[in-house]
Amino acid sequence: MKVVRSVEALKEARAELKGSVGFVPTMGALHEGHVSLIRKAREENDHVIVSIFVNPTQFLPGEDLEKYPRKEEADRRICELAGVDILFMPDASAMYGEDEVTVRAPKYLGYILEGHRRPGHFDGVVRVVLKLFNLTRPTRAYFGKKDAQQLVILQRMVSDLFLPLEIVPVETVREADGLALSSRNVYLSAEERQKALAISKALKRASKMVGAGELDVARLKEAMEAVLAELEVEYVAFVNRRFEPVEKIEIQNSIILIAARVGQTRLIDNIWL
Ligand code: PAJ
Repeated sequence: MKVVRSVEALKEARAELKGSVGFVPTMGALHEGHVSLIRKAREENDHVIVSIFVNPTQFLPGEDLEKYPRKEEADRRICELAGVDILFMPDASAMYGEDEVTVRAPKYLGYILEGHRRPGHFDGVVRVVLKLFNLTRPTRAYFGKKDAQQLVILQRMVSDLFLPLEIVPVETVREADGLALSSRNVYLSAEERQKALAISKALKRASKMVGAGELDVARLKEAMEAVLAELEVEYVAFVNRRFEPVEKIEIQNSIILIAARVGQTRLIDNIWL
């Protein structure tokens, strides 16, 4: 595995790869969720590139940019074991200049739900991911359904800007008790972690009700809110795959999303129905 930090070194290493390339962008502190993306990329491509970059432009003032977990050594080992060809770990000065040309997230899709709570967040995401795509020139890029809105925005970017690559969605990896894996779970105390289980339980409850034929969003929401009663919920949302709100669940076309605070930690989770 080649570990490269400069744009020049990445370009050189990329130029040596022949055949298809799977790309997995991350912010590090890698866990089984990231590994499942890397594994899928490994299975479906001749080569795999992973990036680890805690992208400052997608953090809002007052968010956890400085304290975001950084685990360089462990991440390197994980990538090595997972059969990664190139690991790109730039610092911010390698990625950004001054007064740049920038792309922006769509005005609707980029500013509802997560984008409403974190205005500008998705502008930072598309900005960095476009740069990373241009540097790595992947055949396929892998993103988790855990970050549903991010995934759909990046699919839109690829289609709107005619980018020559395929975005591959990957199922959310969970702990045995249902908690969705996230680099931010390390912020949770044992007690908070226990409380956080309400999020995946509420989604499971809704999914069971839908399985039993309940498609009415108001009734699903009521049942979910009962499960979430102990948490500081930011939103429970029911949308179609274009992220437009729905009143009735349409099978194969709906997503239920939750954002909630547990202590100081903000968690998101969702289920695709
Ligand atoms: P990060 O939070 O590190 O996530 C990297 C990728 O891992 C994303 O595609 C995310 O959806 C996926 N992922 C996270 N938790 C997962 C889980 N439990 N199961 C499956 N996949 C999971 O998302 C980002 O970084 C950044 O915004 C990035 C795209 C790298 C741009 O900076």
